[in-house]
Amino acid sequence: MTTSCWGVVCAAGRGERFGGSRPKALIELAGTALVVHAVRALRDGGCAGIVVAAPAALNSEVSRLVPDLDVVVVGGGATRQNSVRAALQAVPDDVRWVLVHDAARPLVPGAVVQAVRAALVAGAAAVIPVLPVVDTMKSVDPDGTVTGTVDRTALRRAQTPQGFERDLLVRALEESTARGDEVTDDAEAVAALGISVRTVPGDERGLKITTPADLALAQALLGHRDNPTQ
Ligand code: CTP
Ligand code: MG
Repeated sequence: MTTSCWGVVCAAGRGERFGGSRPKALIELAGTALVVHAVRALRDGGCAGIVVAAPAALNSEVSRLVPDLDVVVVGGGATRQNSVRAALQAVPDDVRWVLVHDAARPLVPGAVVQAVRAALVAGAAAVIPVLPVVDTMKSVDPDGTVTGTVDRTALRRAQTPQGFERDLLVRALEESTARGDEVTDDAEAVAALGISVRTVPGDERGLKITTPADLALAQALLGHRDNPTQ
């Protein structure tokens, strides 16, 4: 077992909430596909190799976008959980840690990736980047009538990449699948095994692009980064 860390990029979703005719991971931000931004972010953060789970019909198209030797493209599954499981099978056996990242989060800074990796190296088995909740949180009944105010001090917004001991994540997702569960974030499957999940500070640039409005926001954040005096 080496101490190397690989990245997994989930890019096999259909992007239904975004709309449009192409899978979301192939939508361009500043002239570059979201999946390519995501691969670069993981590489900037120190991942030694990367596996992309792509829509099965678009494997070769995604391979052409990421031609580097250290990127492996595999066909994803019908759910995010299955896409992660497919990608993990392509991670070399001697890799100790994996960072699972959404292609839909193209602008996560390398520093966040490095912070997740550093927490793993320091001994955590599972690490996620999080941000505080700033809005007042309300619970409602099925009619939409407010039933209470939820204390937000213990709430966090979870981002990716989420980092894990590789063997632990493989087992967690196998067991989640066997139970018939479908997790939207990998940390949930690991937490279900009773494992503590650590947190590190996330970053607003790690936003997930779900709708066209999110793409416009990401564009604005990029412009700000490229033109720091504006
Ligand atoms: N994903 C995946 N395989 C799936 C479903 C989702 O790899 N079967 C990936 C998406 O490509 C995305 C990430 O998981 O990068 C987060 O999912 P989400 O934002 O929900 O993307 P989509 O599933 O593509 O969007 P939607 O739910 O609107 O269809
Ligand atoms: Mg989805």
